Amino acid sequence: MTPEQKQLIKATVPVLKENGLLLTTHFYQRVFSVNAELKNTFNMANQENGRQPTALAMAVLAYAENIDDPSVLLSTLQRIGHKHTSLAVRPEHYAVIGRHLIASISEVLGTAATPALLDAWTAAYKQLASLMIGIEADLYAAQVTKPGGWTGWRPFIVNAKIAETNGKTTFHLYPADGGTVANFGMSQYLNVRLFMPELQLFQPHPYRVEGAPNGQYYTIVAKRETGKTGSVSNWLLDIVQPGDHLELSAPAGVCPMGAPAEKPALVIRAGGCPMHQAA
Ligand code: HEM
Repeated sequence: MTPEQKQLIKATVPVLKENGLLLTTHFYQRVFSVNAELKNTFNMANQENGRQPTALAMAVLAYAENIDDPSVLLSTLQRIGHKHTSLAVRPEHYAVIGRHLIASISEVLGTAATPALLDAWTAAYKQLASLMIGIEADLYAAQVTKPGGWTGWRPFIVNAKIAETNGKTTFHLYPADGGTVANFGMSQYLNVRLFMPELQLFQPHPYRVEGAPNGQYYTIVAKRETGKTGSVSNWLLDIVQPGDHLELSAPAGVCPMGAPAEKPALVIRAGGCPMHQAA
């Protein structure tokens, strides 16, 4: 990027931030009306409560603010990368999202959106996207080289569904291919993906991976969600039974140091992330 482009970017960040809600509303309306297939990747209940709509576009603005030294955002980008890999986000998605984001910036800025300004934003987005794609490629490579590891969505079978006394329900999930499952670190999560008939969509939901790794299956705990259309947790509690199939992404997530484990058999350090090790 040229110094002039960086200047243009920095000058427009405050205006876009001020109009953050307008920007993100435009952005998501465009994404889901033009690329409706992406409704299967995003949790639509999060769109309803407004949590996710601001996250993606605001992260792009934060990047633009730090365009002179994006390295300050590296740990944030790592965290987002984990989130993305657990939702099977792929490099080709970035071009789609980029198109909608630049068009939304243009719509929000109106006549102030000169071709030079839009070129500058396009260059900034491409820079960020290639950083993210690189981070995610490394994470996918690490996932797939782990014993029992995989990328994307893998079919699993519900082997046990255990109602707990606290209103929560525990599930034991075994791979449908009969293979092993990758170890995981403390406080890592995976996404469960289900087809929700009321939305006619696949929907993902993240769950912490509980207990200690055993190479055979994963344990997750679901609790009831109120006031949400198409809640994956409610579907797990009300409809899913032992023997049913669902899809899982591989465990992901930057592990906070010293995070409590449910049943830590033994804790070791691997690659800066505390890992469980089965006794
Ligand atoms: C440079 C581009 C992007 C940035 C800066 C970005 C940023 C973010 C951020 C900040 C979050 C929230 C993370 C969290 O909750 O911890 C997020 C979540 C997410 N992103 Fe991205 N993202 C980008 C591109 C993409 C692309 C290309 C896709 C694929 C379609 C995508 C799909 C998602 C999904 C599905 C979530 C989870 C939303 C949910 O909770 O339902 N993102 N992203």
